[in-house]
Amino acid sequence: MRLRRSVLFMPGDSPRKIEKAAALDVDVVVMDLEDGVAAARKEEARRSIVDALKHLDFGRTERWVRINVPTGDLFRADIEQTAAGQPDGYMIPKVSSAEDVRRVERVLEAVEAEVGAARGGRASLALVETARGVVNAFEIAQSSERLVALLFGAEDFAGDVGAERTVEGAEVAYARGAVVVAAKAAGIEAIDTLCTDLKSTEVLARDSVAGRRMGYDGKMCIHPKHVETIHRAFDPTAEQIAHAARLVAAFEAHQERGAGVFDFEGKMVDMPMVRAAEKVLARARAANLVTPPFEA
Ligand code: COA
Ligand code: MG
Repeated sequence: MRLRRSVLFMPGDSPRKIEKAAALDVDVVVMDLEDGVAAARKEEARRSIVDALKHLDFGRTERWVRINVPTGDLFRADIEQTAAGQPDGYMIPKVSSAEDVRRVERVLEAVEAEVGAARGGRASLALVETARGVVNAFEIAQSSERLVALLFGAEDFAGDVGAERTVEGAEVAYARGAVVVAAKAAGIEAIDTLCTDLKSTEVLARDSVAGRRMGYDGKMCIHPKHVETIHRAFDPTAEQIAHAARLVAAFEAHQERGAGVFDFEGKMVDMPMVRAAEKVLARARAANLVTPPFEA
């Protein structure tokens, strides 16, 4: 299992930030070519991204590139000019329909054919952050074999519908829920919106936990200092791991005796809870957290 808890952005035209990010213990870095880069600096950003991809050691970190909007005329050159660096995936911003993903897919296919790379080798990721994108979230989630996640962008979404942002986020709750449900219905991952608060760790922690509780697998962020808080929010606690381990052990013991539903520590347990516990253990193992052996 590959963890995608933390997804850190940095402007593609900042070699310094890319270099810093490569040295971090972060799950995913996103070198940006879209809104984080001024129009006059797109070419330079593409060059510094290829250079970073070719020469920096990112360790275990996945390397994604965010291209420009799939309806414009920049995204083709974004892909063509960064393909030589072989990023792990391309993030597509402002995806509003399945056709937006497919338009990018056709360019990826052409580029893969040209460089002789495995067809479909490059992952793609769809940022859902428009009103149309939220309405079409399920068709987007199913639009391509190479799509590994939907990501929800609350700031652009709020701008698109004319909502006013609050810390509590009631104005984006529907869209945030729609995106995670669509992703899970299609069997792919969901990454939550970023927290723009650069001062309060508490606001970030609360926002991260809220996303995890909704079913999100990870969260986007824009500053290295957010990474650790996000990991803590998405990693199961020692208590959750221990509970899951006891539950799975009890389940296995009951299976041997032929009981499907059983009483575990005062609560009825059946398959969905066993699966949830198995997921907790898988995440704990992937994060190198200890999973104690437990007897039923
Ligand atoms: N990735 C990697 N390193 C980063 C970083 C990021 N996203 N944000 C900050 N850093 C580095 C800085 O370079 C600095 O290191 P240095 O002093 O050795 O150069 C250190 O972390 C502390 O940075 P700080 O001074 O707190 O922030 P800043 O004022 O330099 O930058 C932002 C603030 C918001 C401009 C910056 O965090 C950033 O560019 N974030 C990403 C924005 C982005 O990509 N937006 C588009 C997607 S939504
Ligand atoms: Mg944006």
